[in-house]
Amino acid sequence: MERSLSMELVRVTEAAAIKSARWMGRGKKNEADDAATTAMRTVFDTIPMRGTVVIGEGEMDEAPMLYIGEKLGTGQGPQVDVAVDPLEGTNIVASGGWNALSVLAVADHGNLLHAPDMYMDKIAVGPEAVGQIDINASVQDNLKSVAKAKNKDIEDLVATVLNRPRHEKIIAELREAGARIKLIDDGDVAGAINTAFDHTGVDILFGLGGAPEGVIAAVALKCLGGEIQGKLNPQNDQEVERCKKMGLDLNKVLRMEDLVKGDDAIFAATGVTDGELLRGVQFKGTYGLTYSVVMRAKSGTVRFIDGRHSFKKKPNLVIKP
Ligand code: FBP
Repeated sequence: MERSLSMELVRVTEAAAIKSARWMGRGKKNEADDAATTAMRTVFDTIPMRGTVVIGEGEMDEAPMLYIGEKLGTGQGPQVDVAVDPLEGTNIVASGGWNALSVLAVADHGNLLHAPDMYMDKIAVGPEAVGQIDINASVQDNLKSVAKAKNKDIEDLVATVLNRPRHEKIIAELREAGARIKLIDDGDVAGAINTAFDHTGVDILFGLGGAPEGVIAAVALKCLGGEIQGKLNPQNDQEVERCKKMGLDLNKVLRMEDLVKGDDAIFAATGVTDGELLRGVQFKGTYGLTYSVVMRAKSGTVRFIDGRHSFKKKPNLVIKP
């Protein structure tokens, strides 16, 4: 993949974030998602690449754009697979909450797991605790090894968990072990990535979230030298059947190399609403401000990019509603 692709890809998440941020707090999650998707789709076609969506807004008959199999880019340049989540945290934007992101991940063709749209059990940590987690081990055992690796007591660790009834047991075990807990209403991509940034104060992510989000988080953690493990968790016979058809083994622990193969991949995210890692979009009248991160696995470079976007000079970019 070309090095310059990273910078091009940030333009995609910036545009999607700006568009969807207009919907902050307006109680309309579908409108916010559509705005992000349309903006993302438009900017993708200006990028010199031959991309194919492998994780997107749904199957071809369910989604008008960014559907699985859709071709992206100018048709010239590297052949890549693309995973998108134009708006990660639709409810967050609808309620004006914390940590909504526009995210995408790109890897060489064939290197991203084609995760079906179903749940995945996840555990994720940053670089200091790589090799110390085991999704099949107990919450307490994982906490013990992560605490040791980070030279902390379990009481000093912060675990992020989606605030869902299905996580009652995990939460009880975390409390029993004495760890501190950050319950989030949505957005486990940010939850996973935050484990790799010390200043977020988060050490580990546990719990069941979307499988596509698991693959996108894996790309980010690959760039950051962190780790995520996942296990697909189908909720009904249809989903079990789907996994079988795709040749996915339900008992297999999906490790970094299963989620994203090879040594190169790019991840880009722009904050839609404020979060621990990125601030959300700000509108200043004639211009807007964006806060993004873009990183590449091959070089390990992580760039934080602040953008100032003139609404007067970019009438052809779908930025203003
Ligand atoms: P959306 O942006 O699609 O609403 O996803 C938000 C999210 O919180 C993800 O971060 C997470 O993986 C998933 O939903 C959890 O699913 P559920 O809301 O069913 O618990």
